[in-house]
Amino acid sequence: MDPLSYGLSVAAAVALFPLVALAETFHTKVAVLGGGVSAISAVRNLTEGGIDDFMIIEAREELGGRAQNHPFAGINVEKGCNWVQGLGSNPINILSKKYGLETAANDGDDVVFYDENGLVNHTASYDSFGEAYDRMTELAQSRKKTGQVDISARVGLDMAGWYPMTALDEAVEYYSFDWEYGENPEVSSLLHGISNDEMTYGEQAFGEDSDGDRFVIDQRGFKYIFLEAAKEVLKEDDPRVLLNTKVTEVVYDHDGVTIHTDSDDIIKAEYAIITFSVGVLQHRDVKFSPRLPDWKMEGLFGFNMATYTKIFMNFPHQFWDDNQYVMYADPDNRGYMGAWQNLNAFLPKNTSTNIFFVTVTQDHSYQVESMEDSEVQAEAMKALRIMYGPDVPEPTEIFVPRWHSDPLFRGSYSNWPIGELDQHHSNMKAPVNGRLFWAGEAYSKEFYGFLQGAWYTGAETAEHVLQCIKSKCPKFEYYPKILKAKTYQKREFI
Ligand SMILES: Cc1cc2nc3c(=O)[nH]c(=O)nc-3n(C[C@H](O)[C@H](O)[C@H](O)COP(=O)(O)OP(=O)(O)OC[C@H]3O[C@@H](n4cnc5c(N)ncnc54)[C@H](O)[C@@H]3O)c2cc1C
Ligand SMILES: *[C@@H]1O[C@H](CO)[C@@H](O)[C@H](O)[C@H]1NC(C)=O
Ligand SMILES: *[C@@H]1O[C@H](CO)[C@@H](O)[C@H](O)[C@H]1NC(C)=O
Ligand SMILES: *[C@@H]1O[C@H](CO)[C@@H](O)[C@H](O)[C@H]1NC(C)=O
Repeated sequence: MDPLSYGLSVAAAVALFPLVALAETFHTKVAVLGGGVSAISAVRNLTEGGIDDFMIIEAREELGGRAQNHPFAGINVEKGCNWVQGLGSNPINILSKKYGLETAANDGDDVVFYDENGLVNHTASYDSFGEAYDRMTELAQSRKKTGQVDISARVGLDMAGWYPMTALDEAVEYYSFDWEYGENPEVSSLLHGISNDEMTYGEQAFGEDSDGDRFVIDQRGFKYIFLEAAKEVLKEDDPRVLLNTKVTEVVYDHDGVTIHTDSDDIIKAEYAIITFSVGVLQHRDVKFSPRLPDWKMEGLFGFNMATYTKIFMNFPHQFWDDNQYVMYADPDNRGYMGAWQNLNAFLPKNTSTNIFFVTVTQDHSYQVESMEDSEVQAEAMKALRIMYGPDVPEPTEIFVPRWHSDPLFRGSYSNWPIGELDQHHSNMKAPVNGRLFWAGEAYSKEFYGFLQGAWYTGAETAEHVLQCIKSKCPKFEYYPKILKAKTYQKREFI
């Protein structure tokens, strides 16, 4: 076809089928906004409860959300979540077993530490931090019981007798704290974070054989088990799943919800379950009309979205230690290019890669995300050459996920900050107008940050919506105004 007649036929087509005609209006009972782990869990529960009239609206080309893998150096690496954290009856562990996910043993104690002078004996510092951490946990639990206010984990550690005096101490602390919470002890809540440790992994939550983590190495990706779980209730190309569709605005009143999208499709729903990360909501990537009430914003905007950045590099050969983990204690920059993981210690021996990757968090993540990959590589190589000498070869490949600047995530997972009260968190989760509901990792008081948090809250919120549909909405606690405590114990010096 010559260019002229092509132009004419396009013009004719546009005249015959004006663009607006392509946009559709869908009607559904329950719109699930986002298609991550919480959304999958939610539609399973809706189905179980006899409601098939739902839709999932997801911006990406597939379900799974932060469970994503990435082709790298000829294998798949996990861009997002990587560990089953907490075994036993943890629903993620159960899914992992059910679908035969390939995982490797994880041993956090299999770690060596380097500082600017080379390998250091970390035993004394490591043990002393471990003991302080235990005392801090007891302190957190006892403060919770007696109803004392929250303090930061930094103050908790101080009170437990720990203060980092050396670069090694800082690295030890980073390894056990920031590398898990995604943020430092200064901003993290003692009452809600630390006192939950037992609940999060321990026997209280998942039974006797709950202890430990498994590291996912399955080449189908961590996402595999969630996609399989979704398949049990969704058909292939299920018309109820709108992929590649970004929600731009949520309009709501007391009678229902209208969802606007970037493809101009409109979804009219009786109820909506919002599963976007708190980072996305805080960044106002999705507009709410009318504006969400103050009590809701106060809870939602006070929570933290942490960023955890894995910088993957593949090398011509392994020049590093055989341990699972290697820490570098930068004397001037706590945590920077510090937490290294040796993928060779997890993958089958015949895997052809030599991947050594480093994780940075918080401000270092923002810094790294603003750099070119080549600059990130140069920074990482500086640390490696201090640890392993000047002859260390350059990597053949590098991959730097950028979760914080990604408009669909705006970070990796939430962290409970000092200043967010229990009441704020209840407000985060509470529905608005009996029409807008929330689910996702951040809405779990015990398991925020973890896959199990996403899984539990998805099912729970769906159950609430089912009750609204079938009989009467359950009563939700929320706090229209959160007031200062009226009484403080006051003593005078004598
Ligand atoms: C780097 C990293 C490491 C982690 N490590 C672990 C780990 O080892 N173990 C563990 O248990 N957990 C880990 N997590 C946390 C875990 O991945 C999350 O808790 C969980 O995946 C969150 O699920 P969700 O359904 O709450 O949210 P999401 O997965 O974020 O689902 C929300 C969905 O909404 C979509 N979306 C966003 N905006 C829009 C829009 N405007 N329109 C339409 N769709 C939109 C997104 O694409 C996404 O699919 C990690 C996360 C990251 C990023
Ligand atoms: C899910 O749905 C079923 C059926 O409605 C319900 O009995 C169950 O308790 C629900 N909740 C969770 C958290 O699984
Ligand atoms: C490391 O330090 C610990 C405690 O200070 C000591 O018991 C141990 O022998 C040291 N190990 C080595 C290999 O020097
Ligand atoms: C590695 O070995 C396993 C069996 O131990 C085998 O199943 C697999 O195919 C091998 N992979 C490669 C890349 O050779």
